[in-house]
Amino acid sequence: MLIFGIETSCDETACAIVKDGREVISNVVASQIKTHQAFGGVVPEVAAREHLSAINVVIEETFAQSGIKPQEIDAFASTAGPGLVGCLLVGLNAAKTMSLVYDKPYIPVNHLNAHVCANFIDTELKPPFTCLLVSGGHTQVINVSDYGESSIEASTIDDATGEVYDKVARLLGLPYPGGIQLDKLAQSGNGHAFKLPEARVGDDEFSFSGLKTAVLRLVQGFKGTEIPINDVCASFQETITSTLINKTVKIAKKNGSKTVVLAGGVAANSRLREKLFELEKPECGGFSVFAPKMKYCTDNAAMVASAAYFNPMKVENPLELEVFSRG
Ligand code: KG4
Ligand code: ZN
Repeated sequence: MLIFGIETSCDETACAIVKDGREVISNVVASQIKTHQAFGGVVPEVAAREHLSAINVVIEETFAQSGIKPQEIDAFASTAGPGLVGCLLVGLNAAKTMSLVYDKPYIPVNHLNAHVCANFIDTELKPPFTCLLVSGGHTQVINVSDYGESSIEASTIDDATGEVYDKVARLLGLPYPGGIQLDKLAQSGNGHAFKLPEARVGDDEFSFSGLKTAVLRLVQGFKGTEIPINDVCASFQETITSTLINKTVKIAKKNGSKTVVLAGGVAANSRLREKLFELEKPECGGFSVFAPKMKYCTDNAAMVASAAYFNPMKVENPLELEVFSRG
């Protein structure tokens, strides 16, 4: 089954063609990073207009790279939410239009499920598994019991992981998007240079606002003298990745899960991936471990097409579905 997927929930205009949910035939991403850099973050109205001017080009390029004709596609999918409403509308209407023109089904997809499904690409991963989902808008540990069956076991009560990365990066004066810049500096710093706090919250909660404030106080403490930025980044990264991994392992063990999976934009983080793959060692639990390839961690449409195959939104009349901002 060939599915054409579209992703426009935030600042990436992306299209992909994926066969049977796992084999990527073509994958095109047009990033708006340069446009938003001047503002230090994503401006929703600007992002929506950029999607509108990019979408047709990205669709054409995706078909051109695949050698597949639109008539050969079995279904058209798009992210319906959560995300920026004006942005989502562009992808959703493009997918619905193609579905009507070529007389094939339209399949709506939840963006979070799409991030999880990025792990099915080029792998033989099968449920059940425990998934740590860390993106710019969400932080969750999910128990995936079957392809369309899951329950949220833990989530953040304040900032999402990517959001904390971006905010800490901004207070350190790093350019948007800060997460990846912070990760780069952390790689040549000492993760144990500064002791930062881990929130004392329930097993089903994450909280990062205290950590964010602690980094702010630490930076202010240097009072104009040179900040050892690499060590600050590394210490922050060490603390937050420990919290994320420890809680995920605790939940996986509680649920008797043998497989641990990473998903979302922050799944591209070097230290988080390192710590995740340590879980394969017998002394660290001996889990079977999966993380998406780097290009399928941050927003892309291959994961949307995969989710349309493995975990489509269950709605009666998809063509009447509207976009949604939260979920
Ligand atoms: O999943 P995603 O592309 O968009 C959302 O659905 O939110 O995630 C974007 C987030 C941003 O906050 C970005 O800073 C973060 O993922 N991110 C990273 C890294 N690469 C992207 N955070 C930490 N380390 C990275 N290497
Ligand atoms: Zn995302």
